[in-house]
Amino acid sequence: MVNVLFWLLPLLHKMCPGHAWVASNLLMTGPKAYLIYAGSVQVGTQTGVEECKRQFAWDRWNCPDSAIQLKGLRRATRETSFVHAISAAGVMYTLTRNCSLGDLDNCGCDVSKNGKIGGSGWLWGGCSDNVDFGERISKHYVDSQETGQDSRATVNLHNNEAGRLAVKATMQRICRCHGMSESCSVQTCWTQLSDFMEIGNYLKIKHNQAQKLDIDKKRMRAGNSADKGGGILDAFGSIAQTELVYLEDSPDYCRRNSSMGLHGTEGRECVQHGEGLTQWERRSCRRLCHECGLGVEEKRIEVVSSCNCKFHWCCKVNCDNCSEVVVKHVCARREGPDGYGFRRRHRGPK
Ligand SMILES: *[C@@H]1O[C@H](CO)[C@@H](O)[C@H](O)[C@H]1NC(C)=O
Ligand SMILES: *[C@@H]1O[C@H](CO)[C@@H](O)[C@H](O)[C@H]1NC(C)=O
Ligand SMILES: *[C@@H]1O[C@H](CO)[C@@H](O)[C@H](O)[C@H]1NC(C)=O
Repeated sequence: MVNVLFWLLPLLHKMCPGHAWVASNLLMTGPKAYLIYAGSVQVGTQTGVEECKRQFAWDRWNCPDSAIQLKGLRRATRETSFVHAISAAGVMYTLTRNCSLGDLDNCGCDVSKNGKIGGSGWLWGGCSDNVDFGERISKHYVDSQETGQDSRATVNLHNNEAGRLAVKATMQRICRCHGMSESCSVQTCWTQLSDFMEIGNYLKIKHNQAQKLDIDKKRMRAGNSADKGGGILDAFGSIAQTELVYLEDSPDYCRRNSSMGLHGTEGRECVQHGEGLTQWERRSCRRLCHECGLGVEEKRIEVVSSCNCKFHWCCKVNCDNCSEVVVKHVCARREGPDGYGFRRRHRGPK
């Protein structure tokens, strides 16, 4: 037991600063239960972060590690709203999967509706993913990280919830036919989680459509205690729970600013041509380099890989080393007073 707790403590500390909370939860749910969920929470957060990096690979802001640490999350921009939503979704997703796969002792498929009529020609049956379980546990762990009482905390909690709702919104109904010679006169159906990538796609659209909350600027500056009350809640107005919200405009992601944890786009790779690129990818050099006042530099990189492999009886494979030159495009400074071009056309956060 002692060993387990030693291993767990740094994680606990990271997830929930404030030992009082940890202690009370260990007592409440028992260390064993806590340990099982903690592992899934960590895997789930990682799943969310990886999807974030994938979704933003060709954006100026590319979900850098600095944005994921607590320091980066102290602001409430459009981008941090995505980080909150995708991590909350990742945790819920992993726990739900764990549950359906029988990884966890105390939960399994959701069979509560099985046998009931679902619609015309189909009945509930089979193993529906138990999202309610995943939602409940992830809410408990993820939302408890938000210890503040200010408008930022309210916004973060809203975005966590929007992430969890995305998991539900992207669920699919899967059906199987029954009846005489598979005539499909009766079907049984269950609901299951989509690929996590679908949740990422869904939330990326929500990120593009995110809404800025219009709260009293003076109150914001005055600090935390003043806007505890109705101010922030009024600002939500009629914004649905499924929508991402933010408080502050994004900084200029083109330029490096280490005190703000911004890397800038200098040195970033972009793609110009190639098979099967989306329009968003094909425009990456323009977006990351040109529109940020940088040029595009061609880099030739030698890549060594094995080739001419021959199989020798038995059982050996001998290969040669072949080197191949790969051309990559990278944003680089141009000549000029500050290395940035004069013709910076756009300073948006794209
Ligand atoms: C939950 O699922 C994740 C990812 O599939 C896995 O790494 C983890 O070990 C699972 N948790 C348990 C308790 O089996
Ligand atoms: C970095 O950002 C801060 C806050 O916006 C600003 O005061 C500072 O001048 C910036 N530094 C650079 C090098 O741009
Ligand atoms: C290929 O490269 C590897 C690592 O650089 C080296 O160990 C190996 O001996 C090389 N093989 C040949 C056939 O040159």
